[in-house]
Amino acid sequence: MNIDNIKTPAYVIDEKKLRENLEILDRVQKESGARILLAQKAYSVYQTYPLIAKYLSGATASGLYEARLAYEEMRTPDQDGNRKIENHVYEPAFGDEEMVEICDICDHLVFNSLAQLEHHRPVWEKKVKEGKLSVGLRINPEYSTQEEHEIYDPCSEGSRLGISNANMPDKLPEGVEGIHFHTLCEQGFEPLKETFKHVEKEFARFFPDPESSDNSGKIKWINLGGGHHITREDYNVEGLIKFVKDIKEKYGIEVYLEPGEAIALDAGYLITTIMDVVKTPRMPVLILDTSAACHMPDVLEMPYRPPLRGGEEPGELPFTYRLSSRTCLAGDVIGDYSFDHELNIGDRLVFEDMAIYSMVKNNTFNGMPLPDIDILHENGDVEVIKRFSYSDFKERL
Ligand SMILES: Cc1ncc(COP(=O)(O)O)c(C=O)c1O
Repeated sequence: MNIDNIKTPAYVIDEKKLRENLEILDRVQKESGARILLAQKAYSVYQTYPLIAKYLSGATASGLYEARLAYEEMRTPDQDGNRKIENHVYEPAFGDEEMVEICDICDHLVFNSLAQLEHHRPVWEKKVKEGKLSVGLRINPEYSTQEEHEIYDPCSEGSRLGISNANMPDKLPEGVEGIHFHTLCEQGFEPLKETFKHVEKEFARFFPDPESSDNSGKIKWINLGGGHHITREDYNVEGLIKFVKDIKEKYGIEVYLEPGEAIALDAGYLITTIMDVVKTPRMPVLILDTSAACHMPDVLEMPYRPPLRGGEEPGELPFTYRLSSRTCLAGDVIGDYSFDHELNIGDRLVFEDMAIYSMVKNNTFNGMPLPDIDILHENGDVEVIKRFSYSDFKERL
């Protein structure tokens, strides 16, 4: 990729890397029988949905808008002889005005509470009876397997996400066919295995006995949420395949996984230009045409240090700089990095792993322009698929 010809700032989606991730996920599906969905909250570049739809079983949404995006862009109608793509949705609370459309465009609907389930029953129950919708409940296993990112831990004390075991009934309410849990964040296979073991024991009353003739009130599917870094080099893919196969064999249920990050992990870059170099007593500060606050909010929120091509820990290489932004926020700092050469105005830098939780979280604070969205095709061509303008800023206000 020749970055000199790219208008910055720009996110560049690496099509080859995306396909390679999808091939790994497809192998998991084929060898284990799992159904894997794209969690659109992490990555919603819908222009690449046709590619994703070739491999995955569908998409999951955090609400009506994402559900609609998948319905419009990741749909492969049965009558064309294509594989049917599933559309799932879960949200802590659905609005009354949204429910009819949600039930029309989704195949799976997951509620966060029994109150929400019952409140919307008059709308969803009709679709369930017509065989057009499957309804589930999100449980909270109250089992944390990470301490690193507390804001991403749905099992932290006082969490509103999912129904605790004490608040679940003895059998699934009428019309409910599945349970969903999401507890992981950028984790390997072991925490999933451990969490499932806990769920299997604590929520045993909902798991069917394939030998029994009466499995009413038991689950037909389980959704194991996201947070699985399946496409990371060190992920135990073989372990996951065996694990899913075992669950399917033992209980005769469908198993869903809905990772977001794993789909587009390391499959995108953010390319930026140095606009100024400001001398400070501490170190020189680069003013970039991108911003942590606007274009990579997880850097401040999570927080984390994004990988940068050619950039090492401060002091490791001869030239250390603080990478910052042209917004007014003093803390709009991406991090301190060192380089093997001096940097100058006009030079370009490439942040790695920028396809996930970036574009979906963008904002125009300070009237900052939104970066272009480009695709680096497998033949090396770079296509600009989105260029934003003043109206994208104005129209939101
Ligand atoms: C319910 C649910 N499913 C899936 C995901 C996707 O997680 P990840 O992108 O970490 O794989 C999330 C992330 O917050 C989530 O809340």
